[in-house]
Amino acid sequence: MQSISFIGAGRLGTTLAIAWHRAGMPVAMIASRNPESARKAAAGLEGCAAVTPEQAVQADLVFLTVPDDDIGPLAASLPWRKGQYVVHCSGATEVAVLDAAAQAGAITGGYHPMQIFSDPQRTLALLPGATAGIEGPPALEQILRQLAEKLGMVPMLLPPGSRALYHGGSLFVGTFLLSMLNEAARAWSAFGISEEQTLRALLPVARGTLETAAVKGVAASLAGPISRGDVKVVQRHLRALEQLSDEQASFYRQLAVRQLQLARRNGKLQQHQLDALQEAIGPG
Ligand SMILES: NC(=O)c1ccc[n+]([C@@H]2O[C@H](COP(=O)([O-])OP(=O)(O)OC[C@H]3O[C@@H](n4cnc5c(N)ncnc54)[C@H](OP(=O)(O)O)[C@@H]3O)[C@@H](O)[C@H]2O)c1
Repeated sequence: MQSISFIGAGRLGTTLAIAWHRAGMPVAMIASRNPESARKAAAGLEGCAAVTPEQAVQADLVFLTVPDDDIGPLAASLPWRKGQYVVHCSGATEVAVLDAAAQAGAITGGYHPMQIFSDPQRTLALLPGATAGIEGPPALEQILRQLAEKLGMVPMLLPPGSRALYHGGSLFVGTFLLSMLNEAARAWSAFGISEEQTLRALLPVARGTLETAAVKGVAASLAGPISRGDVKVVQRHLRALEQLSDEQASFYRQLAVRQLQLARRNGKLQQHQLDALQEAIGPG
């Protein structure tokens, strides 16, 4: 593979271009809707030119790094050639969105870095160890595996048709963590604690929980009142939350029911304790 190009000089395209360029890969061209975005992204990458999308498709491997809804129309608008590789970086959009390129003879696939792309410098440091969800026929899969490994990323093969579950499932421990932090901040604001103080106090708990799960697995890391069978604490939590809002108490119940499933799985509580917890929590 002699040359790589990107079409879409946004957060992800710019970051991956820098990362692979630093890793010695032939990042040759960057294009974008706005030529100024391409120029900025290519600046400082020796041997990489800011070009038009029509020029960028001349590369051997072309990454379409535009918003998901733009991938299909963009793929359908460009002049592909037989045997070149065309890859998008969306988690949730199937590779079939590139069918127009495949019909023109291109080999299509997906490369989804499971990481947050905000600003390039921050994300570059987060890529080693992050997973790349990859998809494509064997020759392309092999290239994408090697590209992942060049960045210290862990390749994970995605079967066709799995992407909505792959991406949707990941949100529970991705951006939905922000919703969990917000629930904690809402509860604590009732006794005068600011969001900043909440984060200071609870981010170490969040990190500790995640680090424990990384070592021991999910069920064996269980801590808190449900893991101990402390029914009265759970009842106290629910009474306090119900005074704040039914909706927040209801969310606690939904999570507590799922936590009870973990407690059953790790097998430390006796049946009468599990039953008492289930009764206190309700159907969830
Ligand atoms: N951000 C993340 O955390 C993340 C993580 C994993 C995967 N992804 C995936 O990466 C892809 C890109 O996401 P992103 O967050 O980088 O989006 P983004 O920051 O919005 O960047 C996309 C860029 O594409 C350009 N663009 C839009 N339409 C175009 C078109 N028709 N032709 C050429 N360029 C066009 C725009 O640049 P100009 O208008 O300035 O030219 C825009 O800035 C998506 O498929 C997303 O699902 C994102």
